[in-house]
Amino acid sequence: MELKYRPRRLRANESIRSLVRENRVDLDDLIYPMFVMAGTNKKIEVPSMPGICQYSLDQWPAALAEVRQAGVRAVLLFGIPENKDECGTGAYHEQGIVQEAVRLAKKLYPELYIITDVCLCEYTDHGHCGVVQEGAILNDVTLELLQKTAVSHARAGADMVAPSDMMDGRVRAIRQALDQAGYENTPVMAYAAKFASGFYGPFREAAGSTPLFGDRRTYQMDPPNGDEAMRETALDIEEGADLIIVKPALAYGDIVYRTKQRFGVPVAAYHVSGEYAMIKAAAANGWIDERRIVTEALVGMKRAGADLLITYHALLAAAWLKEEWGERN
Ligand code: PBG
Repeated sequence: MELKYRPRRLRANESIRSLVRENRVDLDDLIYPMFVMAGTNKKIEVPSMPGICQYSLDQWPAALAEVRQAGVRAVLLFGIPENKDECGTGAYHEQGIVQEAVRLAKKLYPELYIITDVCLCEYTDHGHCGVVQEGAILNDVTLELLQKTAVSHARAGADMVAPSDMMDGRVRAIRQALDQAGYENTPVMAYAAKFASGFYGPFREAAGSTPLFGDRRTYQMDPPNGDEAMRETALDIEEGADLIIVKPALAYGDIVYRTKQRFGVPVAAYHVSGEYAMIKAAAANGWIDERRIVTEALVGMKRAGADLLITYHALLAAAWLKEEWGERN
């Protein structure tokens, strides 16, 4: 049969497939989320996230050493404070858990890029991302606390801040506060399109941040909305966001794609806790091949347009990448 174009020609073996491969995951794409907690001698694995632990500060240097060893260059830091209160004061305390952790990490590994999550939900006793009054989450009052949080992180040495609270106007507020405090060179990575998602379940267990009442639907986005995600992103860029996070990742590839196409800014896809938990659970049952699935999911995010991948699989992915390159050379 005469067929002018036979797509299978370019799939004949690994050498040709690799030559025409359009997207790759690189070590430099990976950002590893980590949890630090108050107390001593604690290294507590999150039950629904095998391999992911909460570390007290005395245990953290060893964990950081593993990150460096793996070749991962950036971490995204979350804190679990000793005490939670109504206004989440632990979030902006100069000696807060994240602030102390950043100081320590910067002393040990100055070249490790430290991004801090800026949000109140891990620090409030009600578990919401803002100040609560009569069951409502107040927007503008919360902005002041987020400003304080971001500045205290920068003062401790954070390289970048990532607001995840989804209050209106937070990027502008944080940008202004950072500039006023002399941190005009600290970038803001905004969770611009953060959806009210069931995929955050395991994280909330890890951070102890499940809301005591209600849910986050009055501030996080409604999952069916794509155009609205574009409006949110346009606003955040206008307000001064340097990078944009889309979250979760797997069910939101269209948002990653549209964001990249439309705005041309650096985009990070956050492969969240529930996505990690599902893969781990299925792999533990022998139902899927973890390495194949993760590699496929991560490169899928890149194909959609993500530049950066925030993933709990970062250390494993880094090890696989090294192995793959080792095998080739
Ligand atoms: C805090 C925050 C959350 C996540 C990142 N920052 C939880 C939430 O919004 O409930 C989720 C991360 C994950 O699931 O991996 N606002």
